Amino acid sequence: MTEQDFILKTYNSTIESGSVKWASPSNIALVKYWGKKKHQIPENPSISFTLSDCKTITEITYTKKQEKGFSFDIYFEGEKNEAFKPKIQTFFERIEIYMPFLKDYHFKIETSNTFPHSSGIASSASGMSAIALCLMSIENKLSNIQSDSEVSQNYFNQKASFLARLGSGSACRSIEGELVVWGKNESIAESSDLYGVKFEGDVHSNFSNYQDTILLVDKGEKQVSSTVGHQLMYGHPFAKERFDQAHVNLAQLKAILASGDLNEFIKIVESEALTLHAMMMTSMPYFILMKPNTLEIINKIWAFREKTDSKVCFTLDAGANVHVLYPESEKENVLEFIKDELVSFCQNGHYICDQIGQGANQIQF
Ligand code: DP6
Repeated sequence: MTEQDFILKTYNSTIESGSVKWASPSNIALVKYWGKKKHQIPENPSISFTLSDCKTITEITYTKKQEKGFSFDIYFEGEKNEAFKPKIQTFFERIEIYMPFLKDYHFKIETSNTFPHSSGIASSASGMSAIALCLMSIENKLSNIQSDSEVSQNYFNQKASFLARLGSGSACRSIEGELVVWGKNESIAESSDLYGVKFEGDVHSNFSNYQDTILLVDKGEKQVSSTVGHQLMYGHPFAKERFDQAHVNLAQLKAILASGDLNEFIKIVESEALTLHAMMMTSMPYFILMKPNTLEIINKIWAFREKTDSKVCFTLDAGANVHVLYPESEKENVLEFIKDELVSFCQNGHYICDQIGQGANQIQF
């Protein structure tokens, strides 16, 4: 598929109004996306677990209008929200060429998250993917497409992911489950820089219902946004090595997912998390998003692994919170360990239990 294939050519703009609703999950990268080219093209491939319970639920009501131009309102958790408007405006400008009907309608966007707003959990992946999915459902209605054939379902998912990417890179990995690859990589034939694809390789039963407990170390706004962080990879002294390493790590992870070798899984996942933060610490200007408690938790996890036979490990996204990953078979023991030894490092003792999920769901047709 190329960008041209995603341009909607004809549609029926006599439809006056309607509404659609989707729930779309967050995701957690195992091999990290950090660095992008123009038009939200990633510098390196990434792969993520789709989450199950951390979701954004978005309803879009569309109403035909006379004059052409973008027109939308956003309601977040029931209240009109002006702060999200510039991001959505930029998103609409980027995707208008693929969805020419965007200027024919007024859109009321009502959105809420299943996780607490001020949890420090990035909602851009779930939020942008939910909007992209709603817009795709509207596109299907305007072009009279019944999405039950496999071809149209594939196209629907690909274009939803393609659009979500233009909103926020990692959002393109939130459409499907359980593992999604984004970014061209030799070891995964169908991979693309333009959209995320469901990982179709073998996955060992060790990874069934893999658990992710998110420890909320710092719920405040980050000092440096991901978008700025990505930009700092331009001219970064270690950029080339890092981008090459991600290709190698993804190819290795593919084999590990098939073999179920959890010791090797831990090495790649923890190294990816620390490399991401090492890139932040070695960019110019440099910055640190980890907090003292992030390091306390990492050290406790290492000590617990040393002491027991556990395969628990951690990963980080662009913030201080820690994602604790472990097999379902260890759920009881690890949760006990988290309660006994890690919760005291969380802000107000807060954490969220989630697990690998199947992707987004349409709630209203
Ligand atoms: C550290 O997708 O939030 O979570 O494309 O600028 O919106 P933009 O960035 P974003 O970057 C997320 C980076 C990451 C790693 C990852 O999810 O792969």
